[in-house]
Amino acid sequence: MIPVCEDVDIHSDPAVAGLMHFVENISDFKGSKEDEFIFHRPLGIQADRIMFIGLGKSEKIDAECLRRATGKAVKECIRKNIEDMVFCSPDAGKISMNLPSMLTSLLEGAYLANHLFDHYKQDKKNRPLKEIAVYTNNADGQAFSDLVGRIETVCSSTVMAREWVSMPPNEKRPDRFVRSIHKAVEKENINITLLDEQTLRKNRMGAILAVGAGSRSRPRMLILDHHARKKGKKSENIKTVVLVGKGVTFDSGGINLKSSSGLEDMKMDMAGAAAVAAILIAIARLKVVYRVIGVIPVVENMVSGDASRPGDIIRTYSGKTVEITNTDAEGRLILVDAMAYAIKNYKPDLMIDLATLTGACVVALGEKIAGVFSPDPALSEAIVAAGESTHERCWALPMPDDYKEMMKSDFADMKNAAANRWGGAITAALFLADFVGTTRWAHIDIAGPAYARKEGPYCPAGGTGFGVRLVVETLRRLT
Ligand code: BES
Ligand code: ZN
Ligand code: ZN
Repeated sequence: MIPVCEDVDIHSDPAVAGLMHFVENISDFKGSKEDEFIFHRPLGIQADRIMFIGLGKSEKIDAECLRRATGKAVKECIRKNIEDMVFCSPDAGKISMNLPSMLTSLLEGAYLANHLFDHYKQDKKNRPLKEIAVYTNNADGQAFSDLVGRIETVCSSTVMAREWVSMPPNEKRPDRFVRSIHKAVEKENINITLLDEQTLRKNRMGAILAVGAGSRSRPRMLILDHHARKKGKKSENIKTVVLVGKGVTFDSGGINLKSSSGLEDMKMDMAGAAAVAAILIAIARLKVVYRVIGVIPVVENMVSGDASRPGDIIRTYSGKTVEITNTDAEGRLILVDAMAYAIKNYKPDLMIDLATLTGACVVALGEKIAGVFSPDPALSEAIVAAGESTHERCWALPMPDDYKEMMKSDFADMKNAAANRWGGAITAALFLADFVGTTRWAHIDIAGPAYARKEGPYCPAGGTGFGVRLVVETLRRLT
């Protein structure tokens, strides 16, 4: 595959430049964005075909445009049952990008587009490519292979998160979902602790237990600990980061039952948990210098004679009591137990939670942009900036003090859902904040972008793996 620009020649490699004559003076290929032209059996080179992909105007080329281009090429090959592809990288200087970020984007688009979710189809029409290679002349060997290794790690974690999210809810009830994470993580250099129902009870984690009360598959909490020990460095010097992921394997709403339209999509309510598990795997493989701990509460929010009721008052791990005014606002309940536990036991320097928390966030920002909340503007800015570079777009939303009023209960310390739905993403974040105290913390509401109803340029329909590249990049920037 050769990417082509509308206005200037972006290849300086003579071998590639020499192939450009195939598309010179061709009326139906001008190199405009998403344009495509395939030349079959090109004379003089060892390939069955050359695919040219348009990038549009050179000044408009950015990282996402490159991801889309290689993504498109890979998808096209999959559709045509082609088993391998080589793509030629442009000269970074000619598209005003630095070399590592250009290569990263090209490789990410190709790797991520090569993922299909067809485990449940008998008729597997298409297979992923067996091999994708990059042809480039302006990268030095070692730096390049480090870069490729890093991208493979982060993208394979992204794919892992997608697979968990797309998995049907009957196959990932809490017991099985936790086992599946365990299986993926045990091969890595990560310590695993599983808190079963009994242990949750002993620890008085009333919120997690209340949300899980209606399901035959009992609630659990998984703790994944990547404890970096650098030679010569005392471990006290290593910062501790806690990542918390909402793991509701299916959200029926509970007694405040959701309506039936789109209910099948509520299998994705564990996308935060999937992302956190996948991030930990990436972090362990990349040997990140921080101690990073993933805390993953896993429950199924179901309806039964034992399910929690609206009006119930529960005692959370922190000691604060909560009146459950809506059983469908379950995510914030499991998160506050997990976060309070993490703060008490690990005293993190930084905590980030990822959660498909509110429909209101999707109303505010649409399906492709996540909401970021943090009392520390520098932290939310760092996340937004990381998201700009990975194209996991985030937008900072406010946490106004006076809105806290809406979470006051007449009968308990707090209620879990405000009386009306206005500003629902904000009131949810304010509820969480009440349990976080002074810990440096950000909450990312991924209810929109965690799941795609339609396939994207380098992602099939279903789980998107949103958050994996984002958080790895955020931590990299903080190093
Ligand atoms: N899991 C949902 C949020 C959600 C909605 C995720 C749409 C993905 C797509 C969450 O548990 C929920 O139901 N939130 C309620 C809160 C309300 C009852 C205060 C909501 O957003 O309506
Ligand atoms: Zn809910
Ligand atoms: Zn939910």
